Amino acid sequence: MITVQHLVQIIILVVVRICNSKSAAVFSPADILMIAKDNCAVVTTGEINEVIRHVSSIFNTEDNVVFGRINVDGFLWPDKTEPKFNNKFRNKHDRIIIFQKVVKDRSCLHKIPELKPNIIEFEATVTIENLVNFINEHCFTYKSTDGSLSFEGLHRLEILRTLHHVENISNLNMGKMYEDSQTLTCAGSHDNNSCHSSNEHNLFRLSKIPECERIKMEDPMNFFHEYLKISKPVIIEGAMEKWKSYKWTEKFFRKHYGKKEVHIKLTSGGDYEGVESVSLWENYTAFSDNIPLEVKLQLKFPDLVVVRPATLNMNFSQFLDLINLISNQTVNNLSAYLEYSSIREYFPELENDIEEMSFIQGLLNLNHLNIWLSDGNTLGKTHFDPYDNFLCQISGKKEVILFDPHDNSRLYEAHIPEAILSYNKEEKIFKRKELAESTSLVMSPVDILKPDFKRFPKFADAYPLNCTIDAGDVLFIPAFWWHEVQSYPSKSEHRNLAVNFWYEPFLTKEFPCQDCPLDINPNYRHLL
Ligand SMILES: *[C@@H]1O[C@H](CO)[C@@H](O)[C@H](O)[C@H]1NC(C)=O
Ligand SMILES: *[C@@H]1O[C@H](CO)[C@@H](O)[C@H](O)[C@H]1NC(C)=O
Ligand SMILES: *[C@@H]1O[C@H](CO)[C@@H](O)[C@H](O)[C@H]1NC(C)=O
Ligand SMILES: *[C@@H]1O[C@H](CO)[C@@H](O)[C@H](O)[C@H]1NC(C)=O
Ligand SMILES: *[C@@H]1O[C@H](CO)[C@@H](O)[C@H](O)[C@H]1NC(C)=O
Ligand SMILES: *[C@@H]1O[C@H](CO)[C@@H](O)[C@H](O)[C@H]1NC(C)=O
Ligand SMILES: *[C@@H]1O[C@H](CO)[C@@H](O)[C@H](O)[C@H]1NC(C)=O
Repeated sequence: MITVQHLVQIIILVVVRICNSKSAAVFSPADILMIAKDNCAVVTTGEINEVIRHVSSIFNTEDNVVFGRINVDGFLWPDKTEPKFNNKFRNKHDRIIIFQKVVKDRSCLHKIPELKPNIIEFEATVTIENLVNFINEHCFTYKSTDGSLSFEGLHRLEILRTLHHVENISNLNMGKMYEDSQTLTCAGSHDNNSCHSSNEHNLFRLSKIPECERIKMEDPMNFFHEYLKISKPVIIEGAMEKWKSYKWTEKFFRKHYGKKEVHIKLTSGGDYEGVESVSLWENYTAFSDNIPLEVKLQLKFPDLVVVRPATLNMNFSQFLDLINLISNQTVNNLSAYLEYSSIREYFPELENDIEEMSFIQGLLNLNHLNIWLSDGNTLGKTHFDPYDNFLCQISGKKEVILFDPHDNSRLYEAHIPEAILSYNKEEKIFKRKELAESTSLVMSPVDILKPDFKRFPKFADAYPLNCTIDAGDVLFIPAFWWHEVQSYPSKSEHRNLAVNFWYEPFLTKEFPCQDCPLDINPNYRHLL
């Protein structure tokens, strides 16, 4: 649908291109904001010289790079705030500036903040080569000085063409799985109800889902080419053999960290971050009435909420007691999880017992290192993370069902309002009353175990992949792959313990955005 705003934008761009060919258009601050919604603006504050004219002709074929001029004197955003120019250059009339494309912020329900584009100033000597490099780096383009695609640009296209698709290795989609499970469980049954209730839990049990590739630690010399850059999950065996995490017994944790205060997540049934009807929550009508219309119109599923677990602070010993009681069923209807807790913040010494994967160290930037501990009966509902992930299993098992990012529209990627469970320690009950102003950007509204194909028909075309890891296995989950994680306890220790490394991803995308494809993270251009 083309809105009036879009139309104005299109007209501006057409005008810009026409003007480009003669003398560059002069952009007002409001023009810049409009352009930066979808494009990168390269502007000068003075006259257009030969070099700039030449460079703009090199980028003529790049639809998302717009050239022009601004009047730097008195340049203020429409809301009267000052642009963050580099002061050293302020009011100079011979500068070249990039206003980068703005990434939309959908993390808040109540106001959509008007974000300003990042400003980057050119500081090198004005030569064609320097300027082309500057634009490539900050407008995410891949041009050579002769106007052709650079070597990195060719490598990028090759990578994007060969991204891993589960669909190419599997003929089992969710629709087929559902039919199979119905035929199997309903065979001989004359009662539609019993037939329905039994197939729900068997959906994944009755079909043979393709499994993740497994390799040995000696193999991944070519990890970058065979897995990382084509976004392909893989299980690496033996990668934790030198780790000292075998020391991390219950006794060890009590001795070294018993008094440490930890932040625990609680739910009643063991599901973490599932999606449910907002009408189950107190005061949802009042809450919903408060959401501005413009925001509401952008919500694809205004009747749903992502359920965040309740939280409780306790010392680590108390938490270990609690998961023991849950494990031997002295405590029922309660699940407790030490979820993605920062090792560096809470248990810094543990970092000495583990190691980054040698084949990734120095290649990607490590953003988070987390520990995960529970009694082993938790279910993390389907979501993606904007990180390349190495999930390292220490005790127990995790059955991880993945869907690749080509299935984004089939998993109905969207931002969904959040709600936070409350737990009353005295009464030992959960309440649904706290609807949040934040929205979740990463959860699928589809419950893959009980899919509502009427509401989410495209999910029938999604292709699952099964990556199940046991103690000693490391699972590489490329960024933006959807995953649902069912944990199981280890038989001897009655717990599930894992650590994971989250890296700034090699391939990235805007999210939530069903149609945005993966692309090379501009911060890793040097790896191309
Ligand atoms: C995988 O399948 C898709 C859709 O059928 C196709 O477009 C793509 O080229 C295939 N990719 C590879 C690497 O074979
Ligand atoms: C079961 O459902 C099918 C399709 O909805 C219907 O045709 C059939 O009559 C039902 N059978 C029973 C026993 O209710
Ligand atoms: C996934 O693979 C594991 C290990 O091979 C297997 O035990 C499990 O049943 C599989 N799960 C599904 C849902 O196919
Ligand atoms: C943990 O907290 C409980 C309750 O506050 C307290 O009784 C216990 O002594 C604490 N344990 C340790 C090891 O600090
Ligand atoms: C929410 O509902 C409760 C009882 O249902 C009521 O006491 C309270 O005032 C309501 N709060 C708001 C903000 O509407
Ligand atoms: C359950 O575990 C707790 C803590 O380890 C222990 O005190 C209790 O006796 C156990 N109960 C049963 C029924 O095994
Ligand atoms: C647990 O919850 C279920 C459903 O809410 C209830 O039927 C059951 O009685 C509860 N069990 C205990 C031990 O409280």
